[in-house]
Amino acid sequence: MKILVTGSNGQLGTELRLISPRLAGFSFTFTDYEELDITDPDKVNSFISELKPDWIVNCAAYTAVDKAEQEPEKAMLLNAEAVAHLAKAAQKAGSRFVQISTDYVFDGHNFRPYLSEDKVNPAGVYARSKAQGEAEASTHNSGSIIIRTSWLYSAYGNNFVKTIRRVGKERGALKVVADQIGSPTWAADLAEAIVNLIAINAPSGIYHFTNEGICSWFDFAKAIIELSEITCEVSPTDTAGYPLPAPRPFYSVLDKTKYVNVSGQTVPYWRESLKKCIALLNEQG
Ligand SMILES: NC(=O)c1ccc[n+]([C@@H]2O[C@H](COP(=O)([O-])OP(=O)(O)OC[C@H]3O[C@@H](n4cnc5c(N)ncnc54)[C@H](OP(=O)(O)O)[C@@H]3O)[C@@H](O)[C@H]2O)c1
Repeated sequence: MKILVTGSNGQLGTELRLISPRLAGFSFTFTDYEELDITDPDKVNSFISELKPDWIVNCAAYTAVDKAEQEPEKAMLLNAEAVAHLAKAAQKAGSRFVQISTDYVFDGHNFRPYLSEDKVNPAGVYARSKAQGEAEASTHNSGSIIIRTSWLYSAYGNNFVKTIRRVGKERGALKVVADQIGSPTWAADLAEAIVNLIAINAPSGIYHFTNEGICSWFDFAKAIIELSEITCEVSPTDTAGYPLPAPRPFYSVLDKTKYVNVSGQTVPYWRESLKKCIALLNEQG
């Protein structure tokens, strides 16, 4: 099975690269900006028509949520227009297409976990660009799988876990918002989930995958500090006390039932996965 991965130097792409050697029967081609700029339609077409992969996993994205408010064209180009190029080229080459999306496509006013069929209502530039990316993927590739995830972190790249560890060590006291609820996701677990869906040739459609369990950013930060054994006082604040350019969903828990039923896999609890990631970060020093 031939799999093309785009944006493979990012958090998720790196985790896919790391698990790839033990996946018998899978042959991966990893690309990032230099090898395959997904905003270049001609390059996308020629690369995909030559390689003819069975699957394309798009890990490339514009992920700077707040900066996107000042750069809407860039966010749209990478998160929506480029997704359309990829999905079309994939369709032409007979490849199935995996697009990674986000909890931000929902407005976060729910009081129960979001189902994959729930209506999206994105607020903010990043959220709208990702929602448009979902639409492009399903419109242009009949075999597309869209996987929404949330609060992604890894031992590689920049993310909340690494920021909290750094700032916690520097400052010794932190205030973190306690009124936004969601589910953290270790990118290594998401990489496994993607491979699980590919391995069973899962039906096209929208899936949700995050780690199991829910928490606030405050709970998450407190766990990061505790498990990292850093001396730092973490106290709760609210969103109003920590204004940011892009709006955040207050409740963005994603219902994973469809993933669990289709894949037959269990989903690791967020704190257990966080422990594993922190052990890796400690090894890195
Ligand atoms: N991070 C989160 O909390 C979160 C939450 C929910 C969903 N997601 C989604 O999960 C997916 C993976 O996120 P991630 O955190 O792994 O992202 P990431 O670490 O930002 O990685 C994205 C990768 O894409 C590359 N890239 C940028 N422009 C490109 C281009 N034109 N062509 C090819 N590659 C390009 C980036 O390179 P440069 O670094 O050189 O720009 C980077 O290596 C994304 O779709 C994201 O929207 C993320």
